[in-house]
Amino acid sequence: MDRYAVAGNPVEHSQSPFIHARFAQATSEAVEYGRLWCPLDGFAQTVRDFAASGARGCNVTVPFKFDAYALASRHSERATLAQAANVLRFDAAGWFADNTDGAGLVRDIERNASVPLAGQRVLLIGAGGAAAGALGPLLLARPAELVVANRTLDKAAALVARHAALAQANAVALRAASLDAVGEAFDVVVNATASSLKGAPIPVAPGVLRPGTLALDMMYGPAARGFLDWAIAHGATGRDGLGMLVEQAAEAFLLWRGVRPDTAPVLQALRDKLAGEAPR
Ligand code: ATR
Repeated sequence: MDRYAVAGNPVEHSQSPFIHARFAQATSEAVEYGRLWCPLDGFAQTVRDFAASGARGCNVTVPFKFDAYALASRHSERATLAQAANVLRFDAAGWFADNTDGAGLVRDIERNASVPLAGQRVLLIGAGGAAAGALGPLLLARPAELVVANRTLDKAAALVARHAALAQANAVALRAASLDAVGEAFDVVVNATASSLKGAPIPVAPGVLRPGTLALDMMYGPAARGFLDWAIAHGATGRDGLGMLVEQAAEAFLLWRGVRPDTAPVLQALRDKLAGEAPR
């Protein structure tokens, strides 16, 4: 068995072991996937010990995605743009870091939700690690316009500046905005802020939505509820982050094993599992 794990803090509620166990079973890959809890001041050492024990790679979740990027000696282009990694592969030639979050998001929007991004107007709310991972792959999908809105405008501006060349190469009108000057009636709105998690109000005005807008929160379960209820109440189509979670995992599995697992049955199984666990 080749060993992998999800490294984070906290990590006990991660659904990644469930997802990767299903992928391994469906593809007949000899993969064992667990959880790797890391002390806040001990991410690098914990992952090095894991690799030294013969493991082949790991996923990385909050709050270590920037540390994971720094720990690797080789990086994919999309990880470099994000300056953050959610996947490490422990290659003998030097650890390789990738970021599959954005590709997972785009795949979930375009394939699972059947909303093509090309030519569309897209709003990305947030400029932290989650938004940084999403921006490059969103640009590669060639929307007509992409606005990155954030409470702290400077952070959105820095993210936009880092992606300016990619935006130009893909003919995307890319700009940064503060939360109160975003614009109106987007086709796709992605919430990549931690606002729902903190129980804070919805960070943008409902005018960003139009009937039928796809409004996706990267969270799932109760953390996504407030944003999804708000979106649906204003005529949009709400979507949580579970599809993105399964798709980013499939991209990681592909990177490690060279095989892309079928995601639809795993997403359904995960939805069923979480529905069964919901508090009554
Ligand atoms: P992550 O890695 O999950 O993206 P992060 O790097 O801490 O986490 O980023 C959190 C994002 O949520 C940021 O865009 C943050 O805005 P700031 O850059 O201004 O801090 C945003 N955020 C957090 N709480 C928020 C709130 N109550 N309202 C609006 N945005 C919020």
